[in-house]
Amino acid sequence: MEALVEKINNYKVEIEKEVATTVDAVEAFRIKYLGTKGLLKSVMGEMKNVPNENKKEFGQVLNDFKLFVEEKYNTLKSALEEQDDATDNFDWSLPGDPIPVGSRHPLSLVREKIIATFSQLGFAIAEGPEIEDDWHNFGAMNLPEDHPARDMQDTFYVQQNPTWLLRTHTSSVQARIMETQKPPIRVICPGRVYRNETISARAHCFFHQVEGLYIDENVSFADLKQTLYFFVQEMFGKDVKVRFRPSYFPFTEPSAEMDISCLICEGDGCNVCKHTGWVEILGSGMVHPNVLENFGIDSNKYTGFAFGMGVERICQLKYRVNDLRLYSQNDVRFLKQFTSVL
Ligand code: DAH
Repeated sequence: MEALVEKINNYKVEIEKEVATTVDAVEAFRIKYLGTKGLLKSVMGEMKNVPNENKKEFGQVLNDFKLFVEEKYNTLKSALEEQDDATDNFDWSLPGDPIPVGSRHPLSLVREKIIATFSQLGFAIAEGPEIEDDWHNFGAMNLPEDHPARDMQDTFYVQQNPTWLLRTHTSSVQARIMETQKPPIRVICPGRVYRNETISARAHCFFHQVEGLYIDENVSFADLKQTLYFFVQEMFGKDVKVRFRPSYFPFTEPSAEMDISCLICEGDGCNVCKHTGWVEILGSGMVHPNVLENFGIDSNKYTGFAFGMGVERICQLKYRVNDLRLYSQNDVRFLKQFTSVL
């Protein structure tokens, strides 16, 4: 009986070493060990030579051996099946699973189009801080403390130091530029701005603007008009109509707001143009002499124009987005609609 058990253990060692990587080899393994004339059957046949008192114990050994061989067989078979799946059954010509790619945010697309258009006219890009001080946001732009125009631009103040605030417009970048550069200056300043507004479809506590500033000798209102007219045509096409309305901004004199013909209703009247057929897209004007003098720029020698536009508004007209909140809700169903380059 002991000799038999040893023999079985030796078989186990041998069987463990078996490899079979083809269908034929696995079948050969089955026949050799598990077939009707296989090793397992012949080892089972040894039972009759075992004395009665050892039969129970030997039965256990045989059972273990059977399980061992079967398990080895199953392992070889499933390894083969896996290999099959990975090679023979796999159609390598199938297209791969697409990796979802993100899309540009509509505001980024529009901002980039604005930048590209003004770059053609030689405007460089300038940026300034979103947390600004009172001077750059208001004072330097000819909005002294207690100026009533400040009421239109309430914002968020830094508790630690209330002379710091979240800038209400990108006009503050004009101040930053004039303090570090000498004319000629020709920049556009894209950026995020903040206002203390209750959030709704038409107002938000943050939005985006692009500011423009051009200072040189002999810059006139005609240059302002021509520059903005070029921009509008590049952005909205040749058919769009433009009009300038006299307006007031403390940092420009004279000042004008620019409207374009409503692209949503094409002049028939709708909610966006409040049934006038015109939509305001920006504020502009000739840089106020006080602003130039605040930065030591001789207002007798130099003149300049400036403008500021809301990116969301341009985007609304371009893409028909009717709710400001959509821009910051991060809903992919909204965002993935804007893959096209303008
Ligand atoms: N800063 C103004 C606003 O946020 C927009 C503006 C108007 C900018 C006239 C200018 C300008 O540069 O000349 O409402």
